[in-house]
Amino acid sequence: MMKRDVKPIPLWRALLFMPGDDMKKISKGAGMDVDAVIMDLEDGVAINRKDEGRSTVREALQTLDFGQTTRLVRINPPRHGWQASDIHETMEGRPDGYVLPKVESAREVQNISHTLIERELYMGLAPETIKLLAIIETARGVVNLREIAQSDSRLVALIFGAEDLAGDMGAVRTPEGWEVFYARSKLVTHASAFGLQAIDTPYVDIDNIDGLKAQTRQAMMMGYTGKLVIHPKHVDPVCEVFSPPDEEIAKAQELIRLHDENQNSGSGVFRFEGKMVDMPMIRAAERVLARARQAGKID
Ligand code: COA
Ligand code: MG
Repeated sequence: MMKRDVKPIPLWRALLFMPGDDMKKISKGAGMDVDAVIMDLEDGVAINRKDEGRSTVREALQTLDFGQTTRLVRINPPRHGWQASDIHETMEGRPDGYVLPKVESAREVQNISHTLIERELYMGLAPETIKLLAIIETARGVVNLREIAQSDSRLVALIFGAEDLAGDMGAVRTPEGWEVFYARSKLVTHASAFGLQAIDTPYVDIDNIDGLKAQTRQAMMMGYTGKLVIHPKHVDPVCEVFSPPDEEIAKAQELIRLHDENQNSGSGVFRFEGKMVDMPMIRAAERVLARARQAGKID
């Protein structure tokens, strides 16, 4: 019997990207106690440095102490024929998961999953130890969200990529983001429907922390549970937005307590602070507590 060493998947608030060929940044990211790091082999690495990227990522995985941080690797999209090498060389470092860019079909996710079955067997790992996260950042990816979301049991998260999507659609990026709102909304709806984490696009204006917070707050209010980040100074503001304040936690706990009390005395709805409370509000309160747990604020 193979040993089960599958860890439960944490909810990731900030997922910090770094170029896979940059050991200095990877070392820095490893020591930051961030929820997840993504060592990139795709667009963050120049085409003539892909080999360097793969060996640096493998070495980082084998030698650095990442603490509690989830270790993810973004591979290249299928069209270049680089995926097999990306996986083959980095699997030796035993990453926690792979991030797949520009996913447009269920088949793409399933192909990677099949490759991983063989590698896991070969390495003596339990099946499905290695997770997958799919970035939706092309028009076809958005159109095919329904099949992608149900493609494979390794898939744990959908990630929204606004910049590539706008490029693919010929849309112009604006601070308000209405040009990608349909896709951003569609992604979080599909993630919710199929039990996946929803992770928002990175904020690329590095020094505009107010803008970052506003975009993160908007994502959180839409139901996103995490966000990609591209610079260390974005990690804390993003985590802060996804961590509910103490008053909100206390209120959620109180609502759930009152709900249980009312249920026990045979009533499904009641009044709290002037508003009718029924199941949708209780579910919202449960989500607040899930985020509080993720932030380590409650057990
Ligand atoms: N991960 C880890 N460390 C990072 C980092 C990252 N994403 N971005 C910057 N740092 C480090 C720098 O190495 C520097 O470290 P030091 O103070 O020890 O020398 C420090 O943080 C400050 O960096 P700064 O000078 O402000 O950034 P920069 O101008 O050198 O780099 C970017 C800007 C955008 C190139 C850089 O943030 C980056 O590489 N981001 C990730 C890009 C990426 O992976 N893109 C692909 C997915 S979209
Ligand atoms: Mg991209």
